[in-house]
Amino acid sequence: MTTPWNHRYAQRMQGMGSSVIRELLKLTQNPEIISFAGGLPAPEVFPVDAFQSAACRVLDKHGSQALQYAATEGYTPLRQWIVDYMARYGIEAAVDNILITSGSQQALDLIGKVMINPGDLILTEKPTYLGALQAWRAYQAEYTSVPIDDDGICIDMLEEALCGGPKFMYILPNFQNPGGVTLSLKRRKQLIEIADHYGVPIIEDDPYGELRYEGEHIPPLVVLDAERLNGHFGGAQHRRSGYSNGHGYMRGNVIYTSTFSKTLAPGLRLAWIVAPSEVINRCVMAKQGMDLHTSSFVQMTAYEVLQDDFLIHHVRTIRKVYGERRDVMLAALERYFPVGAHWTRPQGGLFLWVTLPASIDTVALMDKAIANHVAYVPGSAFYPDGSGRNTFRLNFSNAQPDMIEIGIKRLGEVLAEELEYTYEPEMELAFA
Ligand SMILES: Cc1ncc(COP(=O)(O)O)c(C=O)c1O
Repeated sequence: MTTPWNHRYAQRMQGMGSSVIRELLKLTQNPEIISFAGGLPAPEVFPVDAFQSAACRVLDKHGSQALQYAATEGYTPLRQWIVDYMARYGIEAAVDNILITSGSQQALDLIGKVMINPGDLILTEKPTYLGALQAWRAYQAEYTSVPIDDDGICIDMLEEALCGGPKFMYILPNFQNPGGVTLSLKRRKQLIEIADHYGVPIIEDDPYGELRYEGEHIPPLVVLDAERLNGHFGGAQHRRSGYSNGHGYMRGNVIYTSTFSKTLAPGLRLAWIVAPSEVINRCVMAKQGMDLHTSSFVQMTAYEVLQDDFLIHHVRTIRKVYGERRDVMLAALERYFPVGAHWTRPQGGLFLWVTLPASIDTVALMDKAIANHVAYVPGSAFYPDGSGRNTFRLNFSNAQPDMIEIGIKRLGEVLAEELEYTYEPEMELAFA
């Protein structure tokens, strides 16, 4: 008998079909193509030597523990390290508020598993992180979305979207993926007030916060929310929030997640959630059914690497390398992109976002880009409703500076040809 597998799949798989964009991106594997498509960190900055010696030390000192099953919550010394590290940014939490996850992609999936019923509405930015949309589609979420501009989510359009009664808001305040924009302090405070007013929790996804190349650090939403609770909203940036009353934080409206993927290496699959302990307990239950726990060996090795302020020094190197690549890409865009193309100027992170006149379809244009040996991600992939077809995302962390220059020149040629045929100056530029 041949099983008709199609009849066996769950309904939730219906929203998870293969997309045109995924098929197109497979073509970018060709080594002749300069790809700005992936969100890959630069392999040159991976701390390979530090991991090699740390792995040996872990196996020498704690070999059998590192290779044994372990607690779902994560390796306690690593959780404590995260608590101490986050306190530098004013996030006050206790070990009980931390769950180690296998990448922040798993954190998003866990949040979906714990919180989303079929048909629940989730409020996202427009555009937003594709991986979150994918993760929550599996739980049959519906989306409502609010455009972003250079200062992040457009607060003036938020309340209308909140009237739909979303389960939570998903916000990327720092160097947003894909937009590259950063939510201003003023809007962060407004967002916290509005979330409180409507009683809607915020999921704050912050993989890039450490990767700032210019400008001042802005307090995370989780810190501002703690300040709101403590009645000193808008205070000093690095003051400890007092959220926890010494017992882990208890009442917050924000679930925060971050990752070691962009600061150490994505192949570790190591990240964390910070949340009230009752939420952490639910996520622990959900994670048990997924993978029991994140690799003990990886957690212990990463903890060993992180000793002696390793991350503080290492992140300085990464900022220098990526900051330089961002500058090379911005200069190349000025040089080679035609009139009619507009782009964001990220203060950090890995991406910038290009908007073309409304008549250009960047999915269709990918064929021409690939023929000219360069690739991007068409913007519509990041729109819950599939709009944004005149936009695309560029990554600047992965390619070497000389390749960035050549790749942007190639892309500029493709755009110049296209815009010559289709650009009408009076056409309105739509960011969203
Ligand atoms: C906004 C955002 N969230 C989550 C992730 C997933 O990261 P991780 O490697 O920790 O799973 C990414 C990866 O690019 C991302 O950009």
